[in-house]
Amino acid sequence: MPQNRPRAFISGALPGRALAGGSVLDPLREVADCHVWEGQGSPGEGALREALHESEGLLCLLTDRVDRALIEACPRLRVISSCSVGVDHIDLGAASERGIVVGNTPGVLTDATADLAFGLLLAAARRLVEGDRFVREGHWRAERRWYPSMFLGADLSGKTLGVLGLGPIGRAVARRAAGFGMRVVGWTRSMREVEGVETLALPEVLAQSDFVSVHVALAEETRGLIGEKAIAAMKPTAILINTARGGIVDEAALAEALASGALFAAALDVFADEPLAPESPLRDLPNVVLAPHMGSATHRTREAMARMAVENLRAGLLGEPLAACVNPEVIQRS
Ligand code: GLV
Repeated sequence: MPQNRPRAFISGALPGRALAGGSVLDPLREVADCHVWEGQGSPGEGALREALHESEGLLCLLTDRVDRALIEACPRLRVISSCSVGVDHIDLGAASERGIVVGNTPGVLTDATADLAFGLLLAAARRLVEGDRFVREGHWRAERRWYPSMFLGADLSGKTLGVLGLGPIGRAVARRAAGFGMRVVGWTRSMREVEGVETLALPEVLAQSDFVSVHVALAEETRGLIGEKAIAAMKPTAILINTARGGIVDEAALAEALASGALFAAALDVFADEPLAPESPLRDLPNVVLAPHMGSATHRTREAMARMAVENLRAGLLGEPLAACVNPEVIQRS
């Protein structure tokens, strides 16, 4: 056994196998001593701090809060690899200052997340969850078998979808919308041109869209982007879909708009605090479809994410370039 092997902490069990068969962690085990968290749920701040004190590498999940205090308490940490595309749970500034490279898993989850966004869009437009409840709860009775105004929802064809954020997932949602005969408008902070999408200023996208789907990353500039003012700019018949991060939407303002009829419906896979609090007003609204942060939750996608996160950590520990790195300036500097 070679001496001085780095130590890697993996904060949760990962799905899947290595491409060559065997455990998904095998490529990492070749170069590091791996310690996998086996406790219930996520490790939590204290356990993470303890586990990381002696570790050079961390493979984390989006439920792990990797903040400045944690980073500063882990003198040996060199590489953080998150099994997620979003990295808002990691203090990137603190990591970069310490020369810690941070990897993520873009690309492999694009289609799964775009599929879920579109599924949510359809579910909200066609009131699928309300219909399901109606049947299960015994309201579908002989005297109300079918009537012309039963469960009327929104059409997709000929309607306008507004995509906020035109990265890979936003663009994949735009392609799906084209297949449904929708016009697609979009907004991105860089205002770059994207094929099949009419790029407009944010207020224009909000005002023109029948559906608005959120695909920006959560950062200081996007926190609360869809607040009272943005919601007021939307059509009262519009539907909001969020599969990005909860903090981008002001949930109180959204709940109020949905309850008052200022907005037709919403479909949400992500929330400012997860799990969604029992007292959240969103739970009581019939015109909201709720999902438990499952955008990338397919067997194939989660396995690909796990493999990519493992490869990123392995590369970082070996001093090689990561397949996906969110702070490449750290490597260029060293
Ligand atoms: C999921 O939300 C991810 O960031 O991968």
